[in-house]
Amino acid sequence: IIHFWALIFLYIWAGPHHLHYTALPEWAATLGMVFSIMLWMPSWGGMINGLMTLSGAWDKLRTDPILRMMVVAVGFYGMATFEGPMMSIKSVNSLSHYTDWTIGHVHSGALGWNGMITFGAIYYLTPRLWGRDRLYSLSLVSWHFWLATIGIVLYASAMWVTGIMEGLMWREVDQNGFLVNAFADTVAAKFPMYVVRGLGGVLYLAGAIIMAWNLWATVARQPMAASTAAAVPAE
Ligand code: HEM
Repeated sequence: IIHFWALIFLYIWAGPHHLHYTALPEWAATLGMVFSIMLWMPSWGGMINGLMTLSGAWDKLRTDPILRMMVVAVGFYGMATFEGPMMSIKSVNSLSHYTDWTIGHVHSGALGWNGMITFGAIYYLTPRLWGRDRLYSLSLVSWHFWLATIGIVLYASAMWVTGIMEGLMWREVDQNGFLVNAFADTVAAKFPMYVVRGLGGVLYLAGAIIMAWNLWATVARQPMAASTAAAVPAE
């Protein structure tokens, strides 16, 4: 409950971290930075609460790939909500803004946290909603888990490398104050990492396609659960 209300209260003041070094008044940018840093605590409180829910049951991770997905999701939530406050600091943002670093942050949040928790929820709900005993294949869930995790790790690390590199390249000036690098130089320098990014994205997508097949097979091929089959509709 504290996690929820702290996010509601703090996040509404944090928006200016998207507008550092724009026409926004300086005081508003500073306000956004301070509230963003404060957000780190409730975010991590929520993450720790989520992880500690597994106290005494960590062994389940060995046998339950759905739970594994959810735990990794919470881990990525922690990572994105540590990175975000750091990027909201004005001096850090002057390097990261407009670069792939922001794209890396977005995707560890979107693919790692939102994506993985959604996959976990869908895997949990599908057999229950369709009255099936269990999912069609848990080993396919395991494949999805590893493809998605390796995919995000490749994607996010490629974006950290290119982001920091292009930020530093854009900053570089010669002794007369002229820019050393043209925009196209940064694009060329980023190419190898874009191959890694592409590979990461393909792995993540492949995992999602496997999930779609597994869910379809659960509904189409799994027998109805005994309890559901015997259920008599209420009068
Ligand atoms: C305490 C938590 C967080 C803070 C303080 C935070 C802070 C930031 C900062 C400073 C930026 C860069 C702004 C810029 O330079 O333009 C950013 C971008 C972004 N963040 Fe976060 N972040 C947090 C968590 C998250 C999470 C969990 C997600 C996704 C689930 C997320 C999604 C995004 C997106 C989509 C952008 C890109 C916006 C754009 O440029 O269009 N953030 N965030």
